[in-house]
Amino acid sequence: MQTADIRQRWLDFFAERGHTVVPSASLVSDDPTLLFTVAGMVPFVPYLTGLVPAPYPRATSVQKCIRTNDIEEVGKTPRHGTFFQMSGNFSFGDYFKEGAISMAWELLTTPEADGGYGFDRDDLWVTVYEDDDEAIELWKKVADLPDERIQRLGKDTNYWHTGQPGPAGPCSEIFFDRGPEYGIDGGPATDDDRYVEIWNLVFMQYLIDDVQSKTDFRIVKELPKKNIDTGMGLERVAFIKQGVDNMYEIDQVRPVLDRAAELSGRRYGANHDDDVRMRVIADHVRSALMLMSDGVSPSNEGRGYILRRLLRRSIRAMRLLGVEGPTFRELFAASRDAMKSAYPEVAHDYAHIEQLALGEEETFLRTLTAGTSILDLAVSKTKDSGRGQLAGDTAFLLHDTYGFPIELTLEMADEAGLAVDRAAFDTLMTEQRSRAKADAKSKKKVLADLSVYADFRAKGETIFTGYTELSTASTVLGLLVDGRPVPFATAGQTAEVILAETSLYAESGGQAPDQGRIVGDGFELEVLDVQKPIKGLISHTVKVTSGEVGVGVPATTLVDEQYRRGATQAHSGTHLVHAALRQVLGPNAHQSGSFNKAGYLRLDYGWNSALSAETRSEIEEISNAAIRDNLEVVTREMPLDEAKSLGAMALFGEKYGEVVRVVDIGGPWSRELCAGTHVSTSAEVGMINIVGESSVGASNRRVESLVGLDAFRRFASERALVSELTSSLKTRPDQLVDRVGELVSSLKAAEKRIQQFEARALNDRVPALAAKAVRTGDVLLVAETVGSLGAGDELRSLATSVRSQLGDAASVVALTAEVGGKPVAIVATSPAARDAGANAGALAKTMAGVLGGGGGGKPDLAQGGGSDLAAIPAALDAVRSALRG
Ligand code: ALA
Repeated sequence: MQTADIRQRWLDFFAERGHTVVPSASLVSDDPTLLFTVAGMVPFVPYLTGLVPAPYPRATSVQKCIRTNDIEEVGKTPRHGTFFQMSGNFSFGDYFKEGAISMAWELLTTPEADGGYGFDRDDLWVTVYEDDDEAIELWKKVADLPDERIQRLGKDTNYWHTGQPGPAGPCSEIFFDRGPEYGIDGGPATDDDRYVEIWNLVFMQYLIDDVQSKTDFRIVKELPKKNIDTGMGLERVAFIKQGVDNMYEIDQVRPVLDRAAELSGRRYGANHDDDVRMRVIADHVRSALMLMSDGVSPSNEGRGYILRRLLRRSIRAMRLLGVEGPTFRELFAASRDAMKSAYPEVAHDYAHIEQLALGEEETFLRTLTAGTSILDLAVSKTKDSGRGQLAGDTAFLLHDTYGFPIELTLEMADEAGLAVDRAAFDTLMTEQRSRAKADAKSKKKVLADLSVYADFRAKGETIFTGYTELSTASTVLGLLVDGRPVPFATAGQTAEVILAETSLYAESGGQAPDQGRIVGDGFELEVLDVQKPIKGLISHTVKVTSGEVGVGVPATTLVDEQYRRGATQAHSGTHLVHAALRQVLGPNAHQSGSFNKAGYLRLDYGWNSALSAETRSEIEEISNAAIRDNLEVVTREMPLDEAKSLGAMALFGEKYGEVVRVVDIGGPWSRELCAGTHVSTSAEVGMINIVGESSVGASNRRVESLVGLDAFRRFASERALVSELTSSLKTRPDQLVDRVGELVSSLKAAEKRIQQFEARALNDRVPALAAKAVRTGDVLLVAETVGSLGAGDELRSLATSVRSQLGDAASVVALTAEVGGKPVAIVATSPAARDAGANAGALAKTMAGVLGGGGGGKPDLAQGGGSDLAAIPAALDAVRSALRG
């Protein structure tokens, strides 16, 4: 049974039983406390907790998931994948334990010919939470399972939560017994690879927080409704149904494994270590493909770091298979081909994904070389000093800066006959992790605070009227001060206001929130911010400028007309620049983010190189030509599929609802999914002036532009600048560049001449200084100060010239000067002087000591410095007496 077939049977089975089929959400979770979607229930958390009323009583999905906490296990066990698909059925206060258990049993044991998975009931075991007698009774009733095949287990396995504050509950898991050839008897309680968990039924009943571990958390309260969240591992069922040994050998993964084997010339199944490496590659390449398809790009933090780690682990595994050169082109193409029937977007967006993957491979292959040099150096230093252990901070540096996984460092050090101070490395890693944890903790607050919005959201969505009106009369539904509901707020206070309708645009889709006011009988509020804290709810942060506002009173939202005009110009301008950019660079230039506010826009897009000046002008000109053409702007609402078939540009990796808003500017010239506010014809944008082009992270560029009057003002100020320059340089605008060029080259020529004069002047001083040589002890000594010089180098060349002037004599030249306000000393010795025992290094050190600093160097030439200019004569005396003695 192919993975796609297992998936379809799942969706059909639950759709027939009244579940709404919900498409997989992005791997990038909406939930601020979670980096990734780690389970099928993640997109439904607001419904499970009751924060947002569930739009359907039952739902089903096959959700893309990423989990990397067990990354070390990948390839070693049959079932650990960093990317996997979780098939889930959900009930929001509808059916509970009995429904979940009976539907699961039915789907698993219905014969394949009748649409089920055709498992033999004798191969299935279940576990329940230790005191869940109700579940045990239900399993007996529904499945007629004998007592010994129902095992009670503790919190560590049979209580489920995401590891973050949120919904939780006891669970019951279903296992498949692979048979005695895979391990010992005794059921899932033996925790053996023989029994594979295929499906987890969670009886969601509590809200928890303060999550310290799987078993250590605090139950806040019972959820308003009893819910069901289940997860069946699609890959696990696939490997069992496909009769292979592990999830890396299923139809969606195996082709990558085979490609890795081919590229390395090694055979899968011949050597255990190599097999693990091939499975790691197959898993990680697929996970990276899916992450990039959801808009993640490699970076040094958060999601991007996890992606980077997956990519680098794959490169390293290929290296351990003996391949030094690039392989991503072949490996990613194999993974794309295996995944595209389930996820057509990976083929559609492939050019962009490949660009990111190849860029990362190139970089890491480069740092792999640089890191290897660092490691080699550290190895030889360690050996020289007679130690047998490489320092932990070297391993950490290699990990942190050069992206070396610790295993790579261990292995390479081992080749050189050294161990690694693993304890020190681990300490540094722990410190880093606790910094990350502290960061995650500070984010947890967000979710807790959000619960206050649930009551307002329960009353319905906030209606946004601002596409067509700037002022809307409505009613105050709620007020919050310091995050807590209050009956009223008075002058001077800052509060959040929830209204039934609003004309004020909440920040979203890259567009900044509107500016404006909210007024009512006897009060006036200045709008500071407008946000959507949860889906469907708009909250206005305001300052009460006069009077008192109370819950239930009428209030009118007033958008600042000037601001809104600028904002619509900027947002439509963003679409114009985006369309122009793609017209010039081609369809691989994917928008990865944007921001716009009155007068200004910026657009980030996936691209590896800077725009040339000509390309930048071309994009600017096309945007301005579109403004001149006065293109009509049309907005329409339609189902997502229809919008896609019309070719509407969706933001890469962005999540959209089922019904979307499509904005055309001279459609189809520019056609994007967008909820922002726009002008009605392109001419209203006025003017686009691209003022910046820069890099933002790996493989991402940014264009910044001024729009409308702000664009014009920038040109006007540049014109004023040119006119100021032409008048002060006494030339015409068209000759300005030549004039400045002339000035720069004559300045350079003058500087060169000054240098020559200075060198000559310095040289002229040599005979006089040489003449000051005085026999001191066994040598001729010149100990002089030469005043102030531009650089230490000049003093050095003066000292060596004086030494040459003194010929074969045993001579010591000790000169001091003031350089940049500080005393500098140089000591030069001739070979004969060194034979007589004079050492420039020691003498420079002596002088530096007197000058209040440090110094040293070789026996023939050395330098010292300090901070005390007044000590120069004493420093020279110190040399004299050193040589006399
Ligand atoms: N949310 C449950 C899990 O991930 C079903 O196992």
